[in-house]
Amino acid sequence: MKLQVFSLLLLCAGSLADLSAEYKNTASLDGNNFKIYWTHNATSNMMYIALEVKATGWVALAFAKEESRNMEDYDTCLGYVSGETKILNDYLTNGHSTPPKDNQNDCMLDEAMQSGGTTTIKYHRKVDTGDSQDIVIEKGEIVVVWAYKNSVTSLLRHDEKGFKTLTMINSGESAKLKSFYWKMTVASLSVVVALFFK
Ligand code: HEM
Repeated sequence: MKLQVFSLLLLCAGSLADLSAEYKNTASLDGNNFKIYWTHNATSNMMYIALEVKATGWVALAFAKEESRNMEDYDTCLGYVSGETKILNDYLTNGHSTPPKDNQNDCMLDEAMQSGGTTTIKYHRKVDTGDSQDIVIEKGEIVVVWAYKNSVTSLLRHDEKGFKTLTMINSGESAKLKSFYWKMTVASLSVVVALFFK
């Protein structure tokens, strides 16, 4: 029994550690139930995202141009796991109601699972999909919107929802600053090494 509990704990720790190891960035959107992980591939300009949400129904992450108060124009990837069914679709909200699907699905599902009351959905989408029904993920601070529900019988109103300001792609300035600090560190180390062997 002890061994089983230990194995279970290891398994849980392993799957959590996996997401942190798999993605470069992480943030809690509500400080509690809704966590996202992401990696931006600058070469392909693709955004790889994992949603890890303490919920058993639909979960959704959206990009918005501003914190609107009326659910207008949130570019949304919404998915769920129900038995063997794993779904992820692209929506553009148009007010306080079930959003219509985009004509083109740019939310590409990689993997989805539900375990112990947590739904995990891994997907990717282009930073700029070229679709007029999507929002380009800009560099620097952007507004992300999150929502989830504990049932999937139909796309009914969320149990919880909210906004968060997040930097998913570093702006050129901070990237330049990082590169500057990196060069300074290398230069300082070279001086120290040179002085040491003098
Ligand atoms: C699935 C169908 C959906 C329905 C029927 C629905 C309905 C509603 C309703 C009636 C409200 C106003 C009352 C309240 O604050 O709870 C609301 C607000 C809100 N919803 Fe939804 N919603 C849906 C999906 C979503 C999705 C997918 C997101 C984002 C990923 C979202 C984000 C929000 C946010 C942030 C608010 C509060 C601010 C605002 O009004 O824009 N909703 N929703």
